[in-house]
Formats: sequence, C-alpha cells, structure tokens
Amino acid sequence: MKNARSRQVSPATVLVWDVPVRVFHWLLAVCFAGAYLTSESEDWRLVHVTLGYTMAGLIVFRLVWGFIGSRYARFSDFVRGPAAAASYLRSLLHGKPQHFLGHNPAGALAILGLLALGAATAATGWIVLQESSAELWEEVHETFANLMLALVLIHIAAVIVSSRLHHENLVAPMFSGVKHGQPEQAIRRGWCSIGLLVLLVVAVFWWLQWKMS
Ligand code: HEM
Repeated sequence: MKNARSRQVSPATVLVWDVPVRVFHWLLAVCFAGAYLTSESEDWRLVHVTLGYTMAGLIVFRLVWGFIGSRYARFSDFVRGPAAAASYLRSLLHGKPQHFLGHNPAGALAILGLLALGAATAATGWIVLQESSAELWEEVHETFANLMLALVLIHIAAVIVSSRLHHENLVAPMFSGVKHGQPEQAIRRGWCSIGLLVLLVVAVFWWLQWKMS
C-alpha cells in the first residue's frame, strides 16, 4: 500500500497566468468597482473619471497582450466559440467537467463580454464628458455599466461554482499565477517586467490626474 502510494505521480505546480494578466485582472476589478461606487457623486467625479480612463487603457493593453502575450493569455488559446462553451457546460451538468488549464470556453465568453462592456462603458463615459447636453448618452453609459455589473456578478459566481465542481481553487492562481499541471504545460516566462510597467504607467497616470486637479 505504502509503495503504491509513493508511486502515484501528483501533478507539479506550473506557472499558467503571467504577471501582466494578473496585474490587469486585479487592476480592472479595482477600477470597475471604484468607478461604479463613485458614479453618483459630484465630489468623487475626478476619481470616477480617472478609474474609467484607467479601465480603458487596461482593456487596450489586454487586447494587445491577447495576441503577443504568453500561451494562456492569448485569445487563440481560449476563444473557442459557443459550441465549445455549450459542450463544456453540458460536461459540468453531467458531473464530468472537461478540464482546461487556461480559461474554459464558457469563461472565455464571459471574458470577451467583460472586455466589450468595459470598453463600451468607458467610451460612452468619455462622450458624456465631451457633450454638454448628454442625457441620452448618460442613460446609455449607465446601462452599459449595469450590464457589466451583472456580468461581473455572474463571473464571480461561475468562478466559485466551477472551483467547487473541479475541486480546484481557481481564485488563488489569479494571485500566484500557478496551477497543478504537467511540467510541459508551464509557460516559460512570467513577464514580470511588463506587469511592473503596467503598474508604473497606471501609478504615474493617477499621480498626474491628482496633481492637475
Ligand atoms: C470588477 C470585477 C471583475 C472583473 C471586471 C473581472 C474580469 C475578469 C477578466 C477580464 C478575466 C480574464 C483575465 C485575463 O485573461 O486577462 C477574469 C478572469 C478571472 N477572474 Fe475575474 N473579474 C472581476 C472580479 C473577480 C473576482 C472578485 C474574482 C474572485 C472571486 C475573480 C476571479 C477570476 C478568476 C479565477 C479568473 C480566471 C478564470 C479562469 O480560470 O478561467 N474575478 N476576470
């Protein structure tokens, strides 16, 4: 028994999410939450607008990184279309969840939705700032923000549910970058320098906004 157990090969811990993906994710979450919470108050307008611009910049960065980033950050790795998403959801319902080391196909659709709604919310917010009589655009801006909130809540619920179904904590890797997998599945570089550059650019932008207010 002891020998049989010692012969079991447990998967190694491998790097999956590079630093730019993690920095992007948590900055995006902070920006959206902060912008949403400050949306009703005139006193917090500068913070609201600054977080909106930051969200727009982060999304542009993520779109570029989706083409040139590491393996699991690339759209080609995780965008598989509605049929693959439906098949993944069916596998969950049948209690035999398909396993993906990167994003699963259903999560991928939510990710594309979040990127699109984030871009639409930021763009309509910018239009509201430019126009003096922008009531219609304000309505559109609020609608996009509320749709994004709904999708964020679905996203968080889905992460919790699939963590339970897969018996795998999916949240911790969004901080540490690592998951259980085979060594050949690991990405080779964490791209820490690019992640730090994103943080630096955001920090300088926030400082400039505060200085010029
Ligand atoms: C405003 C809030 C949030 C937004 C806008 C958001 C958006 C996103 C986006 C765009 C991705 C894709 C990451 C990438 O590939 O670059 C993602 C993935 C992920 N998010 Fe969030 N997120 C939010 C909050 C959260 C929270 C609170 C949690 C933790 C409970 C969370 C957990 C995750 C996890 C685990 C993944 C990876 C999913 C997977 O394994 O496929 N997110 N999120």
